[in-house]
Amino acid sequence: MYTDRGNTTDAVRLTAVRKVYGKRDNTVVALDGVSTRFGRGTFTAIMGPSGSGKSTLLQCAAGLDHPTSGSVLLEDHELSDMNETQLTKLRRERIGFVFQAFNLLPVLTVRQNVTLPLRLAGRKPAKGRVTDVLEQVGLSERSKHRPAELSGGQQQRVAIARALICEPAVIFADEPTGALDTRTARDVLGLLRQSVQTTGQTIVMVTHDPVAASYADRVLFLADGRLAGELFSPTADSIAERMTHLGAWADDVSPPPAATVGELR
Ligand SMILES: Nc1ncnc2c1ncn2[C@@H]1O[C@H](COP(=O)(O)OP(=O)(O)OP(=O)(O)O)[C@@H](O)[C@H]1O
Ligand SMILES: [Mg+2]
Repeated sequence: MYTDRGNTTDAVRLTAVRKVYGKRDNTVVALDGVSTRFGRGTFTAIMGPSGSGKSTLLQCAAGLDHPTSGSVLLEDHELSDMNETQLTKLRRERIGFVFQAFNLLPVLTVRQNVTLPLRLAGRKPAKGRVTDVLEQVGLSERSKHRPAELSGGQQQRVAIARALICEPAVIFADEPTGALDTRTARDVLGLLRQSVQTTGQTIVMVTHDPVAASYADRVLFLADGRLAGELFSPTADSIAERMTHLGAWADDVSPPPAATVGELR
């Protein structure tokens, strides 16, 4: 298959990615030929009705799941050419993850949680790096605390620091603000946005929330496993407007009224 290897402007490139779950007469087509690219230093939000394939897209792009067919190029690595050991190494070194559930280890302190990926990779953080990252997420004062002593938003910021510590090519986030209240969500989204602006981090984030998606440079809409459109420089209003026109979605998600969208931002 033709893939444009070694491209310097894309962090990730998907070409005709198809994912079929199940066997024989019991199959689900989760992704049906998705091609797109995520440029370095860009922030993309992925939106779509429940079951449209958002998490599957993220998992395939991150090498956590294997597409049935198609190509995923992460930096200059073709994931379908790699075995499990190589994929594990690549994920550890080049990819950061942030999930709705923060997935912190309760017995470890903030600092230990943040440095865990490096220690798992047998590496030591460069001098001052952990302090810098904790400062970046506004948690320098909390480095010796354990997750249970932190608020939800603070715990998510620890998870973001843990994703940032390896300076990954991409951070994949699946509904990172799904468990947070509006104000805390806004802090976390501001932090993600800031890491794109200040360090050129690439971020791909799944969300159901038009306000969250408005922090991105681009919104990619999925429906039934296919791309159903995109919006550049989105606002919460333009996203909500697009959502109301995306067929089945109207019954699935009620976009907030325009007035509240404006206030939240
Ligand atoms: N392991 C699996 N086995 C079988 N089918 C699966 C599996 N994972 C996902 N699917 C199916 O693939 C489709 C896409 O699922 P996916 O989890 O990507 O949706 P999503 O857009 O993330 O939805 P949500 O917004 O509810 O999280 C769904 O129909 C789902 O039931
Ligand atoms: Mg999902």
